[in-house]
Amino acid sequence: MGRELPKRVFIKTYGCQMNVYDSSRMADLLSPLGYRSAQAPEGADLVILNTCHIREKAAEKVFSELGQLKRLKETKGKRGGRMLIAVGGCVAQAEGAELLARAPFVDIVFGPQTYHRLPEFLARAARACGEGILDTSFPPEAKFDHLPDARADAGASAFLSVQEGCDKFCTFCVVPYTRGAEFSRPAAQILAEARRLAAAGAREIMLLGQNVNAYHGASPEGAKWGLGDLLRALSEIPGLLRLRYTTSHPRDFDDSLIAAHRDLPKLMPQLHLPVQSGADRVLAFMNRQHTADDYRRIVERLRKARPDLALSSDFIVGFPGEREEDFAATLALVREIGFAQAFSFKYSPRPGTPAAAVPGQVPESQKAERLLVLQRLISDEERRFNEGFLGRVVPVLLEKAGRRSGQLVGKSPYFQSVHVMAESGKKGEIVPVLIREVGLSSLGGVRVEAALA
Ligand code: SAH
Ligand code: SF4
Ligand code: F3S
Repeated sequence: MGRELPKRVFIKTYGCQMNVYDSSRMADLLSPLGYRSAQAPEGADLVILNTCHIREKAAEKVFSELGQLKRLKETKGKRGGRMLIAVGGCVAQAEGAELLARAPFVDIVFGPQTYHRLPEFLARAARACGEGILDTSFPPEAKFDHLPDARADAGASAFLSVQEGCDKFCTFCVVPYTRGAEFSRPAAQILAEARRLAAAGAREIMLLGQNVNAYHGASPEGAKWGLGDLLRALSEIPGLLRLRYTTSHPRDFDDSLIAAHRDLPKLMPQLHLPVQSGADRVLAFMNRQHTADDYRRIVERLRKARPDLALSSDFIVGFPGEREEDFAATLALVREIGFAQAFSFKYSPRPGTPAAAVPGQVPESQKAERLLVLQRLISDEERRFNEGFLGRVVPVLLEKAGRRSGQLVGKSPYFQSVHVMAESGKKGEIVPVLIREVGLSSLGGVRVEAALA
C-alpha cells in the first residue's frame, strides 16, 4: 500500500479576532485527521469559510467567494476529484438554511458553537451524496470542553478566547443572535491554555470575548472570578510578558479590573473601548445602557489608574434617528478623549435586529458624508498620537520577518506595528527601538542598545 497523501484544508477567515481564534482551533481539530493547511483554495480538498455577519458588506463578501468556489468545485469534479465546501461562523449561524438553499453546492454549514463537531460533519459528508449538512444549534455541551489542545507552534503573540456571546442586545447588532448567550470559560482551562501557549513561544496573549470584561468564570477553587482576577493569575505565568484584552464594554468595568491596570505592569497600556456615539439620545436608541458622561467617567478612572493608557474605539454613524447635532456630539467626544485609534462604520441595517425596522433611517448619502468627516478627524488624531513617538525609544515585541532584508516587524506596548531594522533579534524577543519614522498605520525605527525606558 502506498503512503496516503496528506489532505489539504484551506480556511478563510472573515470578521473579528474571535473568528481568527476559532479558525485556528478548527485547524487543531483537523490536524489529527490528517489535514495540513493549503495556501489557496485551488490546492485544497476542504475549504472552510469562517464568516462574519456584522455588516452587510461582510456577508456579501461570503456569497461572492462562494460563487468562485462553486466554479472551482465543478472543475475539480470534472477531473474526477472532490472538494468539500464548509461554511462556518456568523453568516452560517444567521442564515444556515437559506444559505444551503441559495448555495446548494455547499456541503457543511455549522455555527460558532458547533465547530467542535467538524470531524463528525466530515465523516457524514464523506458518506452523503450531495445533501448538505446543517448544524447551527446551540448545543448544551461547551465546545471548549471538546477541542484538542492547541498546536505547539504559537506565534509571539497569541489569541485566547475567554468569554463568548452577548446578552446586551444593542439594537443594531447581530452578535447576541449569532454567538448566543454570554458564556465564560472556567479559569483553570484558560490558565492551562495560556501556559501551553507560553511554552510554545507566546510572549503576549490577547484575551478575547465579545464582552470580555463581562467575564465571570469559575476560579480554580470554584469561586467566581472577574476579568481582573483572571489577569492577575495570568500575569504570574513565567514567560508571558504582555497581556491585553478585547473587546470591552463600558458597562462592565469594575474596580478590580481598573485596579489591574494600575497594578499589573504586564497589562499593556492600550485599551479598545467602543463607545459608538457621543449623543445620549442615540446611545439610548442603541440600547447601549450608558451615557456619554458614563463613558467619560470610566476613561477618567482608567487614566487615573494608568496615566499612559492609550484608547481606541468604534463608532457607528447614521444610526436611525441620528440628527446633525447628535453627530456633532460624537465629534466633540472624539476631540475630547483623544483616541490613539478608532474604527468607524456606516450603520448597516441587519436582518432581525430591532433598529433595522424603525423609522428614521438616515439616507445613505448622509451616512457617507458623516463617515468622511469622522474618519478625517480620527486619522488626524491617530497621526498626532503616532508622531508623539518620534525620537523615543520603545520596547518592541518582535513577531515576524519584515519585507525588506534585515527588517523585523513587531508591536509596541500601544499595539502599533513597528518595522525594525536590526542586526539581530528573533521572534518573541522584546528589544529597544528608536522610532525614526511615522507611517499611516505603523512606526519605523532601529534597534538600539539603550536600556528600555
Ligand atoms: N461587543 C463590542 C462590539 C462588537 S461588534 C461592543 O459592544 O462594543 C464590532 C463593531 O462593529 C461595533 O463596535 C460597532 O461599531 C460595529 N457594528 C456592529 N453592528 C453594526 C451595524 N449593524 N452597522 C454598523 N456597524 C456595526
Ligand atoms: Fe453587539 Fe452590543 Fe453585544 Fe457588543 S454589546 S456584541 S455591540 S449586542
Ligand atoms: Fe463578525 Fe461574528 Fe465576529 S458577526 S464580528 S465574526 S462575532
